[in-house]
Amino acid sequence: MQRKITKAVFPVAGLGTRFLPATKSIPKEIMTLVDRPLIQYAIDEARAAGITEFIFVTSRGKSALEDYFDDAPELESALKAANKTALLETLQSTYMESGAIAYVRQNRPQGLGHAVWCARRQIGEEPFAVILTDDVIAAEKPCLQQMVEAYTETGGNMVAAMEVRPEKTSSYGVLDIAEDRGAIVRAKGMVEKPKPGEAPSNLAVIGRYVLAPSVMHNLNRKRIGAGGEIQLTDAIAEDIEAGVPVYGFRFRGQRYDCGSKAGFLQATVAFGLAREDLNAEFAQFLHETMALREAAQ
Ligand code: UTP
Repeated sequence: MQRKITKAVFPVAGLGTRFLPATKSIPKEIMTLVDRPLIQYAIDEARAAGITEFIFVTSRGKSALEDYFDDAPELESALKAANKTALLETLQSTYMESGAIAYVRQNRPQGLGHAVWCARRQIGEEPFAVILTDDVIAAEKPCLQQMVEAYTETGGNMVAAMEVRPEKTSSYGVLDIAEDRGAIVRAKGMVEKPKPGEAPSNLAVIGRYVLAPSVMHNLNRKRIGAGGEIQLTDAIAEDIEAGVPVYGFRFRGQRYDCGSKAGFLQATVAFGLAREDLNAEFAQFLHETMALREAAQ
């Protein structure tokens, strides 16, 4: 029986340069898909997976993110007075119990591995989850919950994995497959951002992880990897060499890369269409826009 996963690390200290100028003054994680910030999707997914301790690795200029989970008494009384019950419920769903969230600081963006390492004191000697808020996953059963269930059987380390087109592998951490069991794949290696033509497979790692405490120990060595950054992929790969297994998990769901403009727009369309209150008007707008485009060509 594996130890229960109760802690999740949310590295949100990156510069978010791909969304400049917006990210000059707002954290990327506060950007909204329809009406909910990216961070809310991530927190909801973590809660569904049984996470009770949330550790944010933040940096300068992220105070809006820290404020987001506080109670909002003025807003609450205004909504109560106006009898806006549904909105009140929406507001309350953003509240977090005092002390459930810890914020640790990454002084300089030195890579995802370094960001995760910043949470070492909060994690201690327990297995833990890592969620990258950029990766939004629409799924019947939330992705991290699927992983935590699978992890109960496997232990070791588990990373969310999906097939990408060969020309895209150089943007991801890629698994070198030892044994393919369908949903679960055992890895014999992992490469961060392999050069074109050098990827060991096209099974890419995306932003959900369930990790053994040994990965934190590996990060202590602060090895510099691809792009001059301390890479989480390298620290996980070191575990394979040390005999702690690493599994790729082919999750069921649709992943959107909301760290890129194209991915964010795709997610906006998908989440807009999935909303009952918006679907009819939005679908008609999209339909007419596409028809106009085609007519103009
Ligand atoms: P990205 O590679 O998307 O970097 O980081 P970024 O800075 O957020 O965005 P761009 O590329 O400049 O547009 C992936 C995740 O890792 C976190 C980011 O906040 C993001 O959630 N991260 C990355 C850190 O917390 N610290 C780092 O040093 C690097």
